[in-house]
Amino acid sequence: MDNFSCFKCPELVRSRSQIVFGKKYNDYDIFIIGEAPGINEDKLGIPFIGKSGKILLDELTKNNILNYYITNIVKCRPEKNRDPTFQEISNCKPYLVAEILTHNPKILFTLGRKSTEAVYNLFGLKFDNISVESGKINEIIFKNNKLLVFPTYHPASTIFNKKFRAKFKEDIKKLSNIAGI
Ligand code: URA
Repeated sequence: MDNFSCFKCPELVRSRSQIVFGKKYNDYDIFIIGEAPGINEDKLGIPFIGKSGKILLDELTKNNILNYYITNIVKCRPEKNRDPTFQEISNCKPYLVAEILTHNPKILFTLGRKSTEAVYNLFGLKFDNISVESGKINEIIFKNNKLLVFPTYHPASTIFNKKFRAKFKEDIKKLSNIAGI
């Protein structure tokens, strides 16, 4: 799914320079889901290659998590990094579902409030808030397969908040354990 165009969200069509598709790093069972591309991702067409990506990559590498697929709930950059709207998330949902169906992961690791809420909605899970949900492992059945939905904080939110940073690190360690790494 890396060769389509889309014009469902007029504001995003104006603010994006390209659609940022998910990226696969080696063979994987882990599917990492962020919110929307930032300026660097929009320029290069690769998810999580800016500041948030560095924070995430450092922690993944420390925990030997080298195999994963990474994507966003919204594939186009919102202007000035605003949050994607409910409508934009909803418009982009079929692409996320198609990615999950194509790649058939075992773990969905969601980053931040927006992506966690969107993925919870997709699978009929009740979202409270990210502080409550972070570190929680939800087991669901999707297309006859067991799938774990595991949320944590968005890496950007850990820059200035030590408590979030500590929890984020703890959750990535937990991710490597449940993935059997
Ligand atoms: N933040 C996200 O949520 N996704 C990206 O791709 C980059 C930053």
